[in-house]
Amino acid sequence: MYELLKTRRSIRKFEDKVVEADKLDTILKCVLMAPSSRDRQPCEFVAVTERELLRSLSVSRTMGTEFLAGTGAAVVVLADPGKSDVWIEDASISALTIQLVAHSLGLGSCWSQIRERLTPAGRHAEDHVKEVLKIPVRFKVLCIIGLGYPVVEKPPHDEADLPLDKLHRNRY
Ligand SMILES: Cc1cc2nc3c(=O)[nH]c(=O)nc-3n(C[C@H](O)[C@H](O)[C@H](O)COP(=O)(O)O)c2cc1C
Repeated sequence: MYELLKTRRSIRKFEDKVVEADKLDTILKCVLMAPSSRDRQPCEFVAVTERELLRSLSVSRTMGTEFLAGTGAAVVVLADPGKSDVWIEDASISALTIQLVAHSLGLGSCWSQIRERLTPAGRHAEDHVKEVLKIPVRFKVLCIIGLGYPVVEKPPHDEADLPLDKLHRNRY
């Protein structure tokens, strides 16, 4: 786990290679095991592999979503706020779980923020994503995790650079 966390980096450039269906299935099964508050499980996921849909998702924002056009796949993280008042926390845990499982399978990933972001035309990015993927109105969209085989390997986190001053013991 230590090595996995140390070597996970956000990857935004991918090889022109599909993400195998069995790897995507593993990621999707794993995310269903993520913890959620009161075990309410408010999150749902849309796995996207169609190039045209990935292109449409990539224009959800002016910057920050563009890399999705070149991904091998993406997972859109949704939650039903009617099921939990802490759906943002639950959905965030799900998103990171997707990233860590992807990394453990040799895939790169990057989080693309949708909640609280606008399209270039000033619409809610969430509404654009919901329209493209035909997501029912009751859901909120937290983010999209882009996945694929990294073109370049990024250096791992350097232990010497860890901001140890942020750590407090017993009292602040
Ligand atoms: C809540 C959250 C939102 C993020 N939003 C975006 C985004 O919209 N677009 C993007 O390219 N990266 C996004 N990132 C990735 C961060 O930029 C990245 O994690 C950070 O720069 C640290 O780099 P690392 O992941 O390689 O350690 C986001 C990450 C988090 C946790």
